[in-house]
Amino acid sequence: MQPESSRAAKEPRVSILPAQRAFGAEIRGVDLREIDTQDFSAIYRAWLDHSVLLFRRQNLTDDDLIAFSKRFGGLDWAPIQESGRRFVEGHPEIYVVSNVMNNGEPIGSLGSGEATWHTDMSYLQDPPKASILCALEVPPSGGNTYFCNMYQAYESLPEELKRRVDGLALKHDGTFNSGGYVRQGVTPSDDPVTSPGTFHPLVCTHPETRRCMLYLGRRRNAYIGGLSLADSEALLDQLWSYATREDLAWHNQWRVGDLVLWDNQCTMHRRDPFDAGSRRVMHRTQIKGESRPVA
Ligand code: OGA
Ligand code: MN
Repeated sequence: MQPESSRAAKEPRVSILPAQRAFGAEIRGVDLREIDTQDFSAIYRAWLDHSVLLFRRQNLTDDDLIAFSKRFGGLDWAPIQESGRRFVEGHPEIYVVSNVMNNGEPIGSLGSGEATWHTDMSYLQDPPKASILCALEVPPSGGNTYFCNMYQAYESLPEELKRRVDGLALKHDGTFNSGGYVRQGVTPSDDPVTSPGTFHPLVCTHPETRRCMLYLGRRRNAYIGGLSLADSEALLDQLWSYATREDLAWHNQWRVGDLVLWDNQCTMHRRDPFDAGSRRVMHRTQIKGESRPVA
């Protein structure tokens, strides 16, 4: 008889603590710089099952973060920052979210105000499938990040509303980021009908879990193709009320060293404002996505 490998005989290192809600989990027992393929497949499965994963006490360098992120697939380059700067020198994959100023210029994006509910980079034809955000410096209070679950949003719609959204396409705005800043190279516009953006099906199937989800992206300048603006606004307001219920959201009160990995296809997130006089520095990567089939 073959002797069992010592690794297989051990307790699995990855322990998964699901949140007391429909989604979200904390993963314990791993140092993300040292995971093997067995650990990674447990993490990948947990990411599909729970949509948002929190790992504490990681303290990854940018190179460590990029190496871990690449296990999930190719990386998108970070969006151009509000300052017009493209990216962190030498690391085009890293997006800096920060209010810290250096020589009068912000080192990152989104300032210290609220970041409204959104999905990352849904103005692209193929938005990232996942994002990974690491806390390098956090303010003493505020700046918490909330996630909502778009499977749950779809499932909670009344049957009549499910029928109504079936087959519709939604334009995801390319004008403003979630902090309300105008994206580089775009002429600001507040007309949802004509503003630049990308249409995606309002109801999609997750390419891996095959579950149906509502795909809302962001509210500002959103427009449902083929409807009058008034009808589009009314229907969107109704759909958003099912998606962003604070009582169903999962949130993280950040500690230095926290890493949060989310499924950017079936969740949205928002951030609380924080005191502009305190420092918050976060580094993010974004993993390339594929087209989501229409449900
Ligand atoms: C992001 C984002 C919010 C935050 O990194 O995509 O929206 O809490 N961040 O910093
Ligand atoms: Mn975001």
